[in-house]
Amino acid sequence: MDPIADLSMFDLTLWTFVAIAIWYMVFYFRALLRYRQASNNHGCQQPPSITQRDPIFGFDLMLRLHRALKRNHRNKSIVQLFSSHGLTFCAPSSTSTKFYTIEPKNLQTIFSTDASSWGVEPMRRFAFEPFVGKGIMCVDGKDWEHSRTLIKPTFARAQITDQHLEDFERHVDRLIDLIPRDGSTVDLQPLFSRLALDASTEFLFGEALGALKKIGFSNESSEFLQAYNYGQYVLGKRLHLPKWNFLTVDKRFQRSCRVAHAFVDECIARTQRALRGSQGHDKTRERYVLARDLVSQTIDMKDARNQLLNVFLPAHEAVGVALTNTFFNLARNPRVFSKLRQEVLKAGAQGKPWTFERLKGIKYLQYIINESFRLNPSIGTNTRMALNDTILPTGGGLRGTSPMYVRKGDVTTTSFYALHRSKDVFGEDADIFKPERWEGLRPPPWSFLPFGGGPRVCPGQNLALTEISYALVRIVEAFERIENRDPVMEFVEVYKITTDSGNGAKVALFSERR
Ligand code: HEM
Ligand SMILES: *[C@@H]1O[C@H](CO)[C@@H](O)[C@H](O)[C@H]1NC(C)=O
Ligand SMILES: *[C@@H]1O[C@H](CO)[C@@H](O)[C@H](O)[C@H]1NC(C)=O
Ligand SMILES: *[C@@H]1O[C@H](CO)[C@@H](O)[C@H](O)[C@H]1NC(C)=O
Ligand SMILES: *[C@@H]1O[C@H](CO)[C@@H](O)[C@H](O)[C@H]1NC(C)=O
Repeated sequence: MDPIADLSMFDLTLWTFVAIAIWYMVFYFRALLRYRQASNNHGCQQPPSITQRDPIFGFDLMLRLHRALKRNHRNKSIVQLFSSHGLTFCAPSSTSTKFYTIEPKNLQTIFSTDASSWGVEPMRRFAFEPFVGKGIMCVDGKDWEHSRTLIKPTFARAQITDQHLEDFERHVDRLIDLIPRDGSTVDLQPLFSRLALDASTEFLFGEALGALKKIGFSNESSEFLQAYNYGQYVLGKRLHLPKWNFLTVDKRFQRSCRVAHAFVDECIARTQRALRGSQGHDKTRERYVLARDLVSQTIDMKDARNQLLNVFLPAHEAVGVALTNTFFNLARNPRVFSKLRQEVLKAGAQGKPWTFERLKGIKYLQYIINESFRLNPSIGTNTRMALNDTILPTGGGLRGTSPMYVRKGDVTTTSFYALHRSKDVFGEDADIFKPERWEGLRPPPWSFLPFGGGPRVCPGQNLALTEISYALVRIVEAFERIENRDPVMEFVEVYKITTDSGNGAKVALFSERR
């Protein structure tokens, strides 16, 4: 071996390495300089930053939240961060900044006035696409507009009719049949989750899965459900792993995708056949079904499938989670349950069927629902990425009042959980469940956001509120009294897309009429 050639080989490697390092540093400092200049030009300042031991990659905060998550304490950890750092803080790293804000002015900017600068596609599309395709949950801009326009008419019509309530009634009847009437312990969580499944599949696919039926829960239904649950679990993992990972492309995931796609394709084919069969029929008595509206609007059936799978993602469990969380609170506040029962019996005495308007009219019911969304929002946090360089109006500087410069690729995270516990807005006792606080309370704009806000506000909001109100009313009509049967009093969180109760809602319900 020639020692000289060997040395030069070593030299070459060394110099290449040094060149790359210098190139990276020049690139880095130029970007930093440009950022500083742009920031100064707009009078922007950085918000307080979380002290990080690792300022390069910003792993600290990630670790801290990860640890909190493991102990199911993310709620506290985030509330603590906001109470020690103010309404806005950040975690800078060498290439981008993570902003955390619950400042209403910033939320209005991100979700409404500057909504086009903030998106989800760069974060979600890679993770979601193999499973749910291109649709409302994982795209921005023109593609998002396309999706939103396609689904809008169905949601708009479903919320103004009481037709939907008639369908929903059948599911609630079944749910009530499944609750023991003798005061033995029941966990309401799996029941509410099946209720939400039946209601959402009926609305989206035209046919309920039948999850609440003792018999008739077909193999295709349970296969689809298993596939969907596993698929969703993998989506969650893919969100947190780098784009080039191969870890999450397992056989089971691929099979889950195929099963879910086949299930929805079959539903679309059925809808097409039904549409052809019903030409010229009277349609006024027909239910509002998203699949049918999509099929009659689009020629591209793959697009229709993607839109359906995307809407199913936020639709299939949110109502179940909200009901579970509400009963979690009611079980710990039996006084509220009794008071609600009185109000409901008063309002229902006329023997007329429940309608959208009559449910809205029971004030105390609406207070309870709002209070539950306030303390345990089903969607606890929301993260958006800056699609362009832009500015957030407040939160920067030592006093937290200067605007902040945001670079393309920076992200903001909002904690609805922390936002909803503001003592300034909701009072010193903001940490306790007290529906009465809503009497005369009008939270200022952008300080109470269980359904988000702006153009991407939840389109299912009214539908969900009606379903939740109706289920609550029917249950308090059927049962006189509630008792908590969960030895753990505090709310233990479990994170999926939603924030669920880790211990469910274990209660006893009593009825004289057996
Ligand atoms: C308690 C029930 C529900 C809650 C608390 C809830 C909450 C939310 C929130 C906070 C968002 C905004 C997310 C964001 O800004 O990125 C959202 C979006 C969405 N929700 Fe809901 N939701 C509920 C029920 C439903 C139901 C029943 C459906 C459908 C039948 C639905 C369909 C959607 C869709 C399609 C989006 C995406 C909208 C878009 O990106 O343009 N949601 N939901
Ligand atoms: C459902 O699947 C099981 C096996 O997984 C099978 O034994 C049963 O016959 C199937 N039932 C129907 C109705 O297809
Ligand atoms: C519940 O909160 C909403 C804001 O999302 C508000 O518009 C509504 O008036 C509140 N309901 C009651 C009964 O206070
Ligand atoms: C955002 O950036 C894109 C290019 O990345 C540009 O075409 C677009 O005009 C920008 N939008 C705004 C509102 O600045
Ligand atoms: C957050 O959750 C933990 C346990 O999951 C609970 O002990 C704590 O009380 C919760 N924090 C708040 C502020 O509710």
